Amino acid sequence: MSVHSNVKKITTHQLREMKARGEKISMLTAYDYSMARILDGAGIDVLLVGDSASNVMAGNETTLPITLDQMIYHASSVVKAVRRALVVVDVPFGSYQGNSTEALRSSVRIMKESGGHAVKMEGGSEIKESVLRVLSAGVPVMGHLGLTPQSIYKFGTYTVRAREDAEAQKLIEDALLLEECGCFAIVLEKIPATLAHKVSQQLSIPVIGIGAGPNVDGQVLVMHDMLGITQDFKPRFLRQYADLNTVITEGVGRYIADVKSGGFPTEEESY
Ligand code: KIV
Repeated sequence: MSVHSNVKKITTHQLREMKARGEKISMLTAYDYSMARILDGAGIDVLLVGDSASNVMAGNETTLPITLDQMIYHASSVVKAVRRALVVVDVPFGSYQGNSTEALRSSVRIMKESGGHAVKMEGGSEIKESVLRVLSAGVPVMGHLGLTPQSIYKFGTYTVRAREDAEAQKLIEDALLLEECGCFAIVLEKIPATLAHKVSQQLSIPVIGIGAGPNVDGQVLVMHDMLGITQDFKPRFLRQYADLNTVITEGVGRYIADVKSGGFPTEEESY
C-alpha cells in the first residue's frame, strides 16, 4: 500500500463545499516537481501551473510566448509531485481563442499528457463556446476575469481593471455567465475589493482573488513573488513571506568561498 494512499485529495466539489462553509481556499503557482512537492506537503489546496511560467521560469516579459507543449511539460512535472492538491493548468495564449474545437483539443492534450486535474482560461462571454465545449468533454474549467495578462497588449498596462462602471458591470455579467456555463471556480485579478466582494457574494462557486481584496473565497499568488525569489516585482497586493533571494545568495556565496579557499570538500566529505 502506498504511504500516500490515505491522503484525501482536493476536488472541485470540495472547493465548492469549502466556500459554502466559509473556509478560505489557498492557491499558489507551481511549475516544477521539487517546488510542487514542498508546496503540496505544506498543505496548499490548489496548485496552478500558471502561464506566468513564461515570466518566472523562462524570463519572458509577458505570458504570451509560452507554448502548449511547454505548459504540458511544466504541468506533468507538478502532477508527479502532488499527493493532495488540485492541479489546475493554464491553457496558454493562442491555443484556445481561435474556436471551441481548438480549445477542446488543447485542453484534452493538457489533461491526457500532463495528468492535470482542470484547466484555466482567461475571458468571459468571448470564450463562452470554448468553455462550454471543454466542459462538455468532462474537463473542469476555472475562469479568469479582471486583469487577464494574455490580453496585455489590448489593455496596454497592468493597472487595476474594472474601476469604471461599464467594465465592472461586464465583469459581473461574465462571472455569472461562467458560473452558469459550469465553471468550478473563477480567478479575479487586480480589481477593486468591493467589486470582488460583490461577485463572490453573487456566485455559489469559489472566487479566488489576486489583488482583489480579502472578501473573496480564496487567494492566489505567484510562488516566486511570495517567496521573494523575484526581485523587481512588488505590487501593492503582494505579501512576501520569505526572502529566498537572500537565502540562496548567501548560501551560494558561502559555497563559492569554501571552494575558492579549498575548505570544501573536507576529508569526511571525500571517499
Ligand atoms: O499564470 C498565473 O500565474 C496566473 C495567476 C496570476 C492567477 O494566472
